[in-house]
Amino acid sequence: MHQELDRAVGAWDEAGWLRPEVVLVSGSGLAVDLGDPQGRETPLADWLPFQTHQIEGHPLKVQLLTTEQGRPVLYLKGRLHSYQGYDAHQTVFSVRLAAALGVRTLIMTNAAGGLRGDQRPGDLILIRDQINLTGLNPLRGDLPSEWGPRFPDMTEPYSRRLRGLARDRAQELGLALGQGTYAAVAGPSYETPAEVTMLRRNGADMVGMSTALEIIAARHMGVECLALSVITNLAPGVGSGGVSHEEVLQEGKEASGRLQLLLASLLNDAALVDKDRSS
Ligand code: HPA
Repeated sequence: MHQELDRAVGAWDEAGWLRPEVVLVSGSGLAVDLGDPQGRETPLADWLPFQTHQIEGHPLKVQLLTTEQGRPVLYLKGRLHSYQGYDAHQTVFSVRLAAALGVRTLIMTNAAGGLRGDQRPGDLILIRDQINLTGLNPLRGDLPSEWGPRFPDMTEPYSRRLRGLARDRAQELGLALGQGTYAAVAGPSYETPAEVTMLRRNGADMVGMSTALEIIAARHMGVECLALSVITNLAPGVGSGGVSHEEVLQEGKEASGRLQLLLASLLNDAALVDKDRSS
């Protein structure tokens, strides 16, 4: 993967694209419109050294956008999931590419099932911490030491500073924004009622099939992380019905407007990138 990453960085520079400062990754049905990429848009597959396939609600595109303040932002519109058959290294390749390009800040969105009775579909929740139950870890194996430490600290996977910033921006916009712990599962089957009970008892507030591996890879490479879940459904036993992919996509679409407001505000915030931070 080391040489493949170097090659992808070389291809980026050859394309004449600016190096981004921030990467935004959007989840299931949560794509937002952040302005005209002015021709700087390609399929994500162009940057990956392996074959990809697409599933409904996940258009896989890469855009390079410039905010009103002139900040270059890499927007990964759609992501790879391990349940599609990708291994952990493939799943996080695009986040590693962003880090190798010099990105200092990562923002992610995802669709998640609510594990608490006070949650409602459509709620926006900041991820405060995560529980990686996927059985995978993108740091397995021999990785180049310049990527990061063998045993990286995970005391603050989601930056307290960035969460504070997101809460401030949400408050200004009049958007409700909770905080919670995200349990990442392998999927693709949704959870059984017994699994939901286990997750709740163990301190999780929402459950989903993404994000955790990318956060591990990003923290390993010293990138400051922020992530937002959209509650698209209540998990079995929390809500009254079952869970369907259609419901997840529909609720995601309905939350996209609020998400777009918050993301645009954050991406334009001068404090989003902490230039003095060393990791
Ligand atoms: N479980 C797991 N992943 C999900 C869910 C869920 O209920 N909703 C959206 N992604």
